[in-house]
Amino acid sequence: MKSAEIRQKFLEFFESKGHQAVASSSLVPHDDPTLLFTNAGMNQFKDVFLGFDKRPYSRAATAQKCVRAGGKHNDLENVGYTARHHTFFEMLGNFSFGDYFKRDAIAYAWELLTEVYKLPKDKLWVTVYAEDEEAYGIWTGEIGVPVERVIRIGDNKGARYASDNFWMMGDTGPCGPCTEVFFDHGPEIWGGPPGSPEEDGDRYIEIWNVVFMQFNRDEQGVMHPLPKPSVDTGMGLERVAAVLQGVHSNYEIDLFQNLIRAAARETACDDLDSPSLRVIADHIRACSFLVADGVIPGNEGRGYVLRRIIRRAIRHGWKLGARAPFFHRLVADLAGEMGAAYPQLVQEQSRIVGVLRQEEERFFATIENGMDILEAELAAMAQRGDATFSGETAFKLHDTFGFPLDLTADVCREREVQVDAAAFDTAMTRQREQARAAGKFRMAVNLEYEGPETAFEGYDRLETRANILALYRDGSPVNELAEGELGVVVLDHTPFYAESGGQVGDCGQLRGGNGIFQVEDTQKIQAAVFGHHGVVKTGTLAVGQAVQARVDTDARAATMRNHSVTHIMHKALREVLGAHVQQKGSLVDPDKTRFDFTHNAPMSAEEIREVEELVNAEILANSATRAETMSMEAAQKTGAMMLFGEKYGDEVRVLSIGSSTELCGGTHVARTGDIGLFKIVTEGGVAAGVRRVEAVTGANALRYLQEQERRVQGMSALLKVQPDDVAERVAGILDNVRSLEKEIARLKSKLASSQGDELSAAAKDVKGCKVLAVTLEGADVPAMRETMDKLRDKLGSAAVVLASVKDGRVTLIAGVTADLTAKVKAGELVNLVAQQVGGKGGGRPDMAQAGGNDPSALPAALDSVADWVAARL
Ligand code: ALA
Repeated sequence: MKSAEIRQKFLEFFESKGHQAVASSSLVPHDDPTLLFTNAGMNQFKDVFLGFDKRPYSRAATAQKCVRAGGKHNDLENVGYTARHHTFFEMLGNFSFGDYFKRDAIAYAWELLTEVYKLPKDKLWVTVYAEDEEAYGIWTGEIGVPVERVIRIGDNKGARYASDNFWMMGDTGPCGPCTEVFFDHGPEIWGGPPGSPEEDGDRYIEIWNVVFMQFNRDEQGVMHPLPKPSVDTGMGLERVAAVLQGVHSNYEIDLFQNLIRAAARETACDDLDSPSLRVIADHIRACSFLVADGVIPGNEGRGYVLRRIIRRAIRHGWKLGARAPFFHRLVADLAGEMGAAYPQLVQEQSRIVGVLRQEEERFFATIENGMDILEAELAAMAQRGDATFSGETAFKLHDTFGFPLDLTADVCREREVQVDAAAFDTAMTRQREQARAAGKFRMAVNLEYEGPETAFEGYDRLETRANILALYRDGSPVNELAEGELGVVVLDHTPFYAESGGQVGDCGQLRGGNGIFQVEDTQKIQAAVFGHHGVVKTGTLAVGQAVQARVDTDARAATMRNHSVTHIMHKALREVLGAHVQQKGSLVDPDKTRFDFTHNAPMSAEEIREVEELVNAEILANSATRAETMSMEAAQKTGAMMLFGEKYGDEVRVLSIGSSTELCGGTHVARTGDIGLFKIVTEGGVAAGVRRVEAVTGANALRYLQEQERRVQGMSALLKVQPDDVAERVAGILDNVRSLEKEIARLKSKLASSQGDELSAAAKDVKGCKVLAVTLEGADVPAMRETMDKLRDKLGSAAVVLASVKDGRVTLIAGVTADLTAKVKAGELVNLVAQQVGGKGGGRPDMAQAGGNDPSALPAALDSVADWVAARL
């Protein structure tokens, strides 16, 4: 049975049992920063299990794309070495949300396996959680599996509930005991039944895991019962296909065979059993699906995992002999293989190819040098009899040649040596510390502060009365700051926003009874202690005094407009360019918003216009902004945009502006209409796969447009036409310029030919031939060539050198008529002159060209021509 049919039969079977077939969710779990990649079918239903979300159905079935690389469930390092590990795989699953429980879940699994897929019953083994009498009873009593093939597994992993038969999605979240079905691949393969000492062998392979979801595990490890007991199951499509296709290894199934052949074709490898081909076939699936779901190779988070997988694939290609990008060419084969089930592979094919090719080109630029260093180290180790690969060298490979640690480890594993990962980590930490020390911090020193925190009041007001808790001058605490002194002020509460989340710190004034402090910037000293940086304008400031703290309202209002519009723009970019757009960095100040995001091509003028239109439509709708503080779990439920890898607290602030919802601690406008007007002013690339836009709002947008208008008016005045007609007028002028250029060329050629007449008179007679060596004032190369042709025609039998001088450079052309080339070669002739003016050149025997950089030597050089020619005739 082909994989496609297995997938289809699975979904049809569960549809016939009242399940809703639900599409696979993205590999990037957008609403869950606790999860690197979607790693199980149940991920998209997490909130349904927890009771936070309700669906119109209580039974569902899916074929879910999963990636298990780089996260909690990480199989990357085993790929290629075992019969059944993958970075990407498909999980078939059926789910009950408080509907059926153990009895039906087990009966369905058995019916599908034995009646639809027709697996022999005597090859199936079962495990149950040791305490789960109910499941044990159903298997042995109701289904009739002989007791010797139903194995109880307890907490075999060293802690309460740490068991092969107790499944948890992660450290927190829904979990419960499970029962698993194993297939016996037969005695010719080594291995023992689950729970036996030989269980790690390949004979008994788990094919289906049926989880009875009963608890929600919290951060302390406490198990809270779920509102309704539920069912979550997972069957690896590739594993069950291996069983149904009568092969032992997943890599022998139909889905993989074509990919392995394609990898062999692209790497010119004729050993179809090479583990490297399996690695490449596995990795092209993970990489293509990840790119299709919006991940772009990068240096952190998901992007870095993708980069590691791509580079690992390239290294295996390199091992097979590939010396140029090859990996991206497999995307077409994959789209052919899986495009029917996953149309996004076909729709996104050219983008996937582009992203992979770019990443390959980058890595191919350094892989050769890296591999040389790696091999040299391995050879030196062999000589020393050492079995540990130096962590320093591994770090150098990482830092200079872009070899991720697991790539080096992969090579080492083949050679049966280990990388000194601890030394690698030490080198990495040292480098980070050096970089940090070298980095420019706005805080010249770490200010020491012990005392109450600053209460931030700047969401609601821009002015407040506050007390000075601490003062600093030159980084040290002081009791007083005098007029003209620079310093930092800490207040007990403040309306000043301290820089964070891309929004710059506020400026303004602190007015005390004895003096005024001009705040130029606000930065956090500690998580909740704000430092007001600035200068005492008049009088003095002393610890304990009260001040009136007043934010610069214009600057703050402009910053808020720019911050609020950033959220709306982020959403619009995703709508126009696609869901792969992710924030990579942002800077919001009173002048502009600068926003970096993942996207692989320059934005077209049309796309920019569309984003501007979407954003301005939201502004015109003038909806009210809502900010709510809530638990992280509740925030996830709102679907708020959150940044992967960002550390959020338990309590988060969810901000809704227009149709956008994001987690954000920044300050924002009250209504979208306050933004006024939005205009993108620049768009460009900042790194591979990362674009940057800068945009302006409010009065800045007006000023920008006025400036553009002023320019057009300036041009219209110069061109003496109405602004609307500027483009047409310029096009007309350009046409005119082009025809003038043609005219000039024609005149130059005419001038050259007339010069030819005069010059021919100046030619000397040397042994019956004409010799001419002169400078043509102001001639360019085409004019010199044309003059040369004319002279040769006129002079009959001749050797000619023409020179011209422009910007300190000498250009030379030599021409010799055909009757003389046996004796006088144009190349030698031109070099005779060129050498004397500091240059050289070459060409055909009848025509040659050269340059030089010493015009002062030109007259004497030209004078030498006649004698030189005479000597050869
Ligand atoms: N969620 C379960 C697993 O991944 C079914 O094995």
